[in-house]
Amino acid sequence: MRLLIKGGRVIDPANKVDKVLDILVENDKIVETGQNIYAEDCINIDAENKLVCPGFIDIHVHLREPGFEYKEDIYSGTRAAAAGGFTTICCMPNTEPVADNKSVISFIKEQARDKGVVNVLPIGAITKRQQGQELVEIAELFKVGCVALSDDGRPVVRADIMRYALEYAKMFSLPVLSHCEEPALSQDGQMNEGFYSTYYGLKGIPAAAEEIMVARDIILAKLTGAHVHICHVSARGSLELIRRAKEEGIKITCEVTPHHLTLTDEIVGSYDADTKVNPPLRSKEDVEVLINALSEGIIDCIASDHAPHHKEAKDCEYSAAAFGISGLETSVAVTMSLVHQGKIGLSDWVALNTIGPAQVLGLDKGTLNKGRAADITIIDPEMVKKVDPTKFYSKGKNTPFKGMEFKGWPWMTIRGGRIVFEDGKIKA
Ligand code: DOR
Ligand code: ZN
Ligand code: ZN
Repeated sequence: MRLLIKGGRVIDPANKVDKVLDILVENDKIVETGQNIYAEDCINIDAENKLVCPGFIDIHVHLREPGFEYKEDIYSGTRAAAAGGFTTICCMPNTEPVADNKSVISFIKEQARDKGVVNVLPIGAITKRQQGQELVEIAELFKVGCVALSDDGRPVVRADIMRYALEYAKMFSLPVLSHCEEPALSQDGQMNEGFYSTYYGLKGIPAAAEEIMVARDIILAKLTGAHVHICHVSARGSLELIRRAKEEGIKITCEVTPHHLTLTDEIVGSYDADTKVNPPLRSKEDVEVLINALSEGIIDCIASDHAPHHKEAKDCEYSAAAFGISGLETSVAVTMSLVHQGKIGLSDWVALNTIGPAQVLGLDKGTLNKGRAADITIIDPEMVKKVDPTKFYSKGKNTPFKGMEFKGWPWMTIRGGRIVFEDGKIKA
């Protein structure tokens, strides 16, 4: 099968391309990129006025399978990803059982192959059952295809365990993705600690709970020479630590989420549990610093931390609700608002969703190079739409963006040369 994507604005930041071009796809590969490509017997895709980008990659997704299929499963989660413009996602291991051994990882890979519509790359746990006490068999997880290790959902509290994890992970060049939270400080917290937590009467989670762990992990990365990736950076103090670590040449990368880039703790005043997320939405000052860091090379990628929950876990008192936001289907539109507002350049934004995440995990993806897998995301930058979670492919309808209007949405998602999402509909 051949696809000819005609006349789109092709943005391939890794190759410094931003130009109106055609792309020819044959079977599962990109075979040609250029002007006025002519080819017979192919499906023509008119991409005029659209942005044609390398397939977007989201390295932080909770797919919930096995164990929590009532929240999400690989079938629904990969469809949500395709509808959100993502061709590759990495799934976190906080499932039941935890993805801490080769049989669970193999199960996830099989389900993804049989039921998934995008590429799913599994992340293995750091410690057995994510209990923070005993290391997983890192060599085994590497061999079965894990692209990284993480105990996300919870921090690795013991510094000695984190140190040994880093030492082993380094032998396999596996990055360790750290959920930075000092539980002694975050305990029972519901939202960011500050003016609004006092005003709304909710227990706060101080930025220091994150910053302390970021500092510890930077120190351990320096000690071991291993690669630490900081998940969902939310506090400006964390960014400052990361900036300095990068200047020192320590192997540190980091991600930010769409919600931490666009929402502040003020909106928690709605007492809508869909605003409850860990780390919490921070202050206006934090958000400003995060946005500025996007263009400065301090932030390596955007990641959604897609955390779907069941209605019952959110339809309750704020303090009883689960933490998490269903983010796959809004990530593109929400972060593109920063492009429209002139806060970040278009090419930088594409890079943060493509070559940026690919480089964090050392993936051979994120470009439109000839010969590469035809993973392509096409965006309609002018499409205006309100967020309607009832139309989500994800089972998780928990989004604080519901009812908000955004401009710039995924229009077509092509994975391995096959159209999996087109104009609002999943094709597989
Ligand atoms: O808000 C969150 N939800 N933060 C996490 O760290 C875990 C995640 C989840 O798994 O629900
Ligand atoms: Zn986390
Ligand atoms: Zn997470």
